[in-house]
Amino acid sequence: MEGRRMQILALFSFMLITLPAIHGWGTDGHSIVCRIAQSRLSEAAADAVKQLLPKFAEDDLGSVCSWADQVKFRYRWSSALHFLNTPDTCTYQYQRDCKDEEGEKGRCVAGAINNYTSQLLSYNSSASKAEYNLTEALLFLSHFMGDIHQPLHVGFASDKGGNTIDVHWYTRKEVLHHVWDSNIIETAEERFYDSNVDAMIDAIQQNITTEWVDQVKRWETCSLNKTACPDMYDMHLKVSKRPVIGHIKVPQKGQYLKMTIFSPDYQLLTGG
Ligand SMILES: *[C@@H]1O[C@H](CO)[C@@H](O)[C@H](O)[C@H]1NC(C)=O
Ligand SMILES: *[C@@H]1O[C@H](CO)[C@@H](O)[C@H](O)[C@H]1NC(C)=O
Ligand SMILES: *[C@@H]1O[C@H](CO)[C@@H](O)[C@H](O)[C@H]1NC(C)=O
Ligand SMILES: *[C@@H]1O[C@H](CO)[C@@H](O)[C@H](O)[C@H]1NC(C)=O
Ligand SMILES: *[C@@H]1O[C@H](CO)[C@@H](O)[C@H](O)[C@H]1NC(C)=O
Ligand SMILES: [Zn+2]
Repeated sequence: MEGRRMQILALFSFMLITLPAIHGWGTDGHSIVCRIAQSRLSEAAADAVKQLLPKFAEDDLGSVCSWADQVKFRYRWSSALHFLNTPDTCTYQYQRDCKDEEGEKGRCVAGAINNYTSQLLSYNSSASKAEYNLTEALLFLSHFMGDIHQPLHVGFASDKGGNTIDVHWYTRKEVLHHVWDSNIIETAEERFYDSNVDAMIDAIQQNITTEWVDQVKRWETCSLNKTACPDMYDMHLKVSKRPVIGHIKVPQKGQYLKMTIFSPDYQLLTGG
């Protein structure tokens, strides 16, 4: 175990020294979540998504799943909707924790998932069309479903979701938050999939039909009469706080992704 870890560590140090700097992968996590989600939609939901996607997306939800990050500044009000923090406890309570910096209730990633899910549920009612921009609702919802599964987007208030924790990711200096946002995925792509994102998505989807098949039902279930079930995703708090000792341990292959793919269930669109 230890030997293998050292081996991988050595391999990585080698790769990082010999390969040119890699950049622009920050959107991969979101795009992977959305591509898996889109492939699992019911027929009615797939139709609705097609109708709602902007033209330039060319029917590919994955291509616009970082839109919500791009509009953070244009829509300043939306920046609070990407995360939530607990008062440094590993238990999360919607009533207590879902608020923005001004303390306004419901303004957090879980509240936003509820918000945009209910907007999308009115897809077929003509009244809603005037009231909301459902294209935006779709782009927000599919992005926030990714965010809530990033352990440090449901993190501790005192360290701003790991943004104040400096670590080394192999030879690079990063903040812990960024390691979870990008580095783990990047490294997995390079190390296990020859930088082929499609191969990585295929591998995850393989597991949905084999290793994790028993869990899938649970991911898809949201109890009757509930608009959405963002609170069930807080389970990832359990793994979000690891001791930081200079180097982060080599992630278990697939661990982050296991949590990421926990999200995409667009039964939401059809009210499931
Ligand atoms: C919207 O209504 C149409 C026509 O009744 C139906 O075919 C479609 O499945 C509905 N879409 C959703 C997402 O409910
Ligand atoms: C709900 O959606 C509307 C329309 O985008 C937005 O103005 C509002 O801030 C959102 N609230 C939350 C909590 O997501
Ligand atoms: C809905 O939002 C999208 C993305 O911001 C925008 O391109 C589109 O023009 C909006 N539609 C309407 C009817 O305002
Ligand atoms: C759902 O809501 C309806 C109306 O409020 C209620 O009659 C029904 O019992 C609820 N079902 C469940 C499973 O809670
Ligand atoms: C698939 O599941 C196996 C067993 O849990 C795990 O070892 C592997 O890393 C998983 N693959 C992916 C792509 O997550
Ligand atoms: Zn985000």
